[in-house]
Amino acid sequence: MGKDVIVACDFSSAQATFDFLDKFTEEKPFVKIGMELYYAEGPSIVKEIKRRGHKIFLDLKLHDIPNTVKKSMSVLSKLDVDMTNLHAAGTIDMMKAAVEGLTREDGTRPILIAVTQLTSTSEERMQNELLISASINDTIVKYANNAKIAGLDGVVCSPLEAGMVKESCGKAFMTVTPGVRFADGDVGDQVRVTTPAKAKEIGSDYIVVGRPITAAADPVAAYRRCVAEFVG
Ligand code: C5P
Repeated sequence: MGKDVIVACDFSSAQATFDFLDKFTEEKPFVKIGMELYYAEGPSIVKEIKRRGHKIFLDLKLHDIPNTVKKSMSVLSKLDVDMTNLHAAGTIDMMKAAVEGLTREDGTRPILIAVTQLTSTSEERMQNELLISASINDTIVKYANNAKIAGLDGVVCSPLEAGMVKESCGKAFMTVTPGVRFADGDVGDQVRVTTPAKAKEIGSDYIVVGRPITAAADPVAAYRRCVAEFVG
């Protein structure tokens, strides 16, 4: 398991994505494709980015009954992505079904990680609207343990939660962390942020970085800076 920087390609069209990726003439960044781009362009965008030689994290956050998730994961496994995800709130049964669906005939499968609680969900809303009376941190750790029991590889979480997840689930359980900003950069709409260097110190396995790279005057230089700080 290598530490790496994943670039969130939050673009609304294939063309905008290729214009961005074309700037990288020397390296092939690990790319995250989210719902916006996938729903706009469909599976062809995944195939094309893969053809160009990038690793892909397909961030579609599946959450449905186990049978539907199993069959959907089976379809996604044929796209040959390197990492994908689901919502741990779908229960251990759903996550186990996802692992089954994602596993290819030869026994291999993409890395599968779980969203615990979205970072946009506050403790107050979780308790008042979702009627979950535990603290948000206990919920995150519980969901991470459920994911581990189901056979998943790790979770997406804030870098500030990565430490407690590792403590409870073990060092080998992966943490993939967005909310990364350069010390001298714009925070934007992210609230709980950390720098690539700090994420490394906390023990993140992968950082997901969007605007600090995609909106930089020189995206390649920003990507290199991220890699230098996080991977070293
Ligand atoms: O531009 P920025 O660096 O904020 O992008 C972060 C990426 O990570 C976005 O694609 C965002 O949707 C995603 N993400 C996040 N927080 C989460 C889960 C995913 O920012 N908890």
